[in-house]
Amino acid sequence: MNVLFEQIGRVIIAKLNRPSSLNALNSSTMYELIEGLKKYDTNPDIGCIVLTGSERVFCAGADIKEMSQKNFNDMFNEDYFGYWEVFAKVKTPIIAAVSGYALGGGCELAMMCDIIIATENAVFGQPEIKLGVIPGIGGTQRLTSLVGKAKAMDLILSGRNLSAQEAFASGLVSKIIAEQHFLNEVIQYAQELATYSKTALIAAKETINQSLECSLKDGIVFERRLFHALFNTDDQKEGMTAFLEKRTATFNQQKTA
Ligand code: CAA
Repeated sequence: MNVLFEQIGRVIIAKLNRPSSLNALNSSTMYELIEGLKKYDTNPDIGCIVLTGSERVFCAGADIKEMSQKNFNDMFNEDYFGYWEVFAKVKTPIIAAVSGYALGGGCELAMMCDIIIATENAVFGQPEIKLGVIPGIGGTQRLTSLVGKAKAMDLILSGRNLSAQEAFASGLVSKIIAEQHFLNEVIQYAQELATYSKTALIAAKETINQSLECSLKDGIVFERRLFHALFNTDDQKEGMTAFLEKRTATFNQQKTA
């Protein structure tokens, strides 16, 4: 299996598992990952997903062996990488836990997640220019929106690597955690998120992502409408009642009619 799934409480840990190719993303890995996540996405008992690799490598990118002999007709007719758009549609929050290399498609995969947490030894980069191509899983778009045009141009045109520290300073990474506690701390953080209302988490993710697609005016209306809609959930009643009763809220209770 190229991807291992493990459930811990309300969190799914999806671990890329192709060590001999440094977790390179061939088509079957892409399908295994996305089909697995689709299943958990609709499960009300899952509130957060952690996507990770090994200590040495998160993911060294798209599989160069698989791609190397393909021509334009193959790539175009297969809409190669098109299926990654399904990953980007997963509603449940996904945290990329990046240790080691996150290069090319590996960096793009991390950027398709909602939060990137890295170890001090993490290395990011979009080296496709060195292969005679450009990023193809959204790198030119997502990197630009995360770090700005000047830095994205620098990184993509030079293909140079980015340290965890530089990635943090640039806004690509939200947090750096020491290697020895890394995955445990990420999972603990994911568990905390997963205790909140899944509906509210999905609404927050969708609204933040919407800000990249529309004007400020439209985005603010979109946010307000979803805010209003959340008043039709049991979780809103529970959250606000618990606050007033000075107790911890218990979200995600399935109502039995
Ligand atoms: N695809 C296929 N195989 C890969 C791979 C990839 N992206 N990256 C590494 N491997 C394989 C190597 O071919 C090697 O296999 P063999 O043992 O059979 O020769 C094995 O993994 C170990 O790799 P290295 O010996 O190169 O390991 P290293 O520690 O010396 O170097 C590395 C590590 C710096 C990550 C180096 O492997 C590397 O530069 N990999 C390629 C990174 C890259 O260019 N990624 C972009 C791919 S294109 C892409 O992603 C397109 C896109 O936008 C979507």
